[in-house]
Amino acid sequence: MFITFEGIDASGKSTQAKLFAEYLSLSKKKYIFVREPGGTNAGEEIRQILLHRNHTMCGETEFLLFSAARAQLTRELILPNLNKGYIVVADRYADSSLAYQGYGRGLDIEMVKEISRFAVSKLTPDLTFFIDIPVYEAINRMRKEMKSDRIEIEGSDFFERVRRGYLKLREEDSSRFHIIDGTRDIRSIQDEIRNVFLNYPVK
Ligand code: ADP
Ligand code: TYD
Repeated sequence: MFITFEGIDASGKSTQAKLFAEYLSLSKKKYIFVREPGGTNAGEEIRQILLHRNHTMCGETEFLLFSAARAQLTRELILPNLNKGYIVVADRYADSSLAYQGYGRGLDIEMVKEISRFAVSKLTPDLTFFIDIPVYEAINRMRKEMKSDRIEIEGSDFFERVRRGYLKLREEDSSRFHIIDGTRDIRSIQDEIRNVFLNYPVK
């Protein structure tokens, strides 16, 4: 079973993905946890290029680099582990590219979908948790954390487009995409995530 966590920056998705992985570990489930971009040696190097503040990069380059890292991660870790019957938990996956490079940066959505499908060998998550918070809340959290890497210096309009992109993706595939209100406390959000997982038909 393939489970992904999505959301705008500072939505709390990494916090929730890690807590969920801890829960799987305590429940003695066989699982692996991967993060995007990165997770493989090649992917970690691509991550450094992507998040480096001094590079000027057009949306197309950004998208192809994210896709390249994802192609490697999919073949090196995700597919082999799914084939062994493991649960794979991913902190971001192809929906991030659609939301950020497609809706955020304005690249052609159909083209992004097509190249993404090729990159991931048509793999789609079984379950996606979209942790949703308003953009002003995300920006407040980023300010507190003093996070300002290359993408985080974008400003609120960009994140509004990304958030609306996620909401559109959810409309297209509401059975896979679970929208979770990320403004509540960490524990309540995690309880909701575990409940959705426990009610999922096949694991
Ligand atoms: P993301 O992976 O989406 O960027 P993180 O999990 O790293 O988000 O969380 C971003 C910041 O928000 C961190 O400082 C974290 O402690 C805080 N945070 C996470 N979840 C919540 C929550 N439910 N309420 C308030 N703050 C939160
Ligand atoms: P991540 O490390 O998940 O950051 P955070 O935990 O703060 O959300 O992702 C780094 C940045 O990369 C983040 O701003 C989202 C962006 N990103 C894309 O623009 N496209 C993608 O396909 C992926 C995977 C991430």
